[in-house]
Amino acid sequence: MSKNIDWSNLGFGYMETEKRFVSNFKNGAWDEGTLTGDSTVTISECAGVLQYAQTVFEGLKAYTTEDGKVVCFRPDLNASRLADSCRRLEMPVYPEDKFIEAVVKTVEANIDYVPPYGSGATLYIRPYMFGSNPVIGVKPADEYQFRVFVTPVGPYFKGGVKPITIRVCDFDRAAPHGTGHIKAGLNYAMSLHAIVDAHNQGYDENMYLDAATRTKVEETGGANFIFITKDGKLVTPKSDSILPSITRRSLMVVAEKYLGMEVEHREVYFDEVKDFAECGLCGTAAVISPVGKIVDHGKEICFPSGMEEMGPTIKKLRDTLTGIQMGHIEAPEGWIKVIRE
Ligand code: PLP
Ligand code: COI
Repeated sequence: MSKNIDWSNLGFGYMETEKRFVSNFKNGAWDEGTLTGDSTVTISECAGVLQYAQTVFEGLKAYTTEDGKVVCFRPDLNASRLADSCRRLEMPVYPEDKFIEAVVKTVEANIDYVPPYGSGATLYIRPYMFGSNPVIGVKPADEYQFRVFVTPVGPYFKGGVKPITIRVCDFDRAAPHGTGHIKAGLNYAMSLHAIVDAHNQGYDENMYLDAATRTKVEETGGANFIFITKDGKLVTPKSDSILPSITRRSLMVVAEKYLGMEVEHREVYFDEVKDFAECGLCGTAAVISPVGKIVDHGKEICFPSGMEEMGPTIKKLRDTLTGIQMGHIEAPEGWIKVIRE
C-alpha cells in the first residue's frame, strides 16, 4: 500500500524511509551488503570522508508507470559514472552489476514510498560512497562504505516548471583538469557559497563559465544546460569540466530520434547565449527546468519564451523524456529497468 503522503506538495527534500542498502569495503574486498533499518552512520572521528572529503555520489529516480509498474531510468549509466568518480578519487569501484542490484533492492524494500503515477512526485535514489577509516596524512582511505537510500521528492525548483532566473557567477565551479566531470561531494561544497549568495541576490541558480577563459558556458551547480536555436536546433555545451549528465545525453537522443531535431554538442560561448530562443537546465533532480532570464552583472538576457511558460521546444523535449520515463512512450532499448512488474 502506498504511504499516506501528500505527494503533490512534496518539495525536493529528505524524508527517512524504512530501509537502505549498506556494503563495506575492508581488506581489499566488498562484503555482500545488506538492507538495514538504521538510517544513521557511525564512523571514526578521523574518517577519510570527514578530513579530506573522500566521497562520491549518484542520483537517479524510480517512477510508477501508467500501467502500475515501478521502473528506473538508465541505472547502468549511474553505475559507470560512479565507477569513474571512484577512480578519480582513488576509491575502490563498486561493481556495476552490484550497483544496479543494490538500487533495485533498496527501491523494492521501500516500494510504498514510490509516488503514484500522475502525482508529480518521484522516488529519488541516492547511492554514495565514502572513506570510513581514520586517515590523517593526506592519502586515500583503506576502508569504504557504499550506501543507497531513497526519498520521495517533488520539483527541484520551487514553482515546478515555471521559468527561473539565473545569474552569471563570478566564482568557478571546476578547474581545467580538475574534478568537474565527476560526481564528488567536494564539487558541491565548492558551490555552496555561490548558491547562497545567488539566492540572497534573488536568483534561482548560477551559470558557471569555464574557469580558464570565462568565455564559455559550463553548467549550473546541479544541472547541464540545453539551448534551442531560433531555427529549432538543440545546442548543449561540451566541456571536460562539466558532469556528463545522463538526462542531457538522453535528451540528445530524444531530440534527434524522436523529434527529428538537429543536435549540436559543442563549446558554447557566452556571447552566443543572447541569440538562443529557449534555455533549460537538465538533470535527474531538475528534469528540464526552463530558464526565462540570465543576468550578467546587471545586463539581462530575456529569452523569447518569457517568464510565464516553458518554451515550446523545451516542453516537447520534456514531455517526450518524461513520457519515456513514465512508460507511455516507447523507450529505446535498455533505457528502462523494471523493478516491479
Ligand atoms: N550537473 C551537475 C553538476 C549535477 O549535479 C547533475 C546531477 O546529477 C547534473 C549535471 C545532471 O546529471 P544527471 O542528468 O545525470 O542527473
Ligand atoms: C541530481 O540531479 O541527481 C543531482 O545530484 C543534483 C543535485 C544537485 C540535487
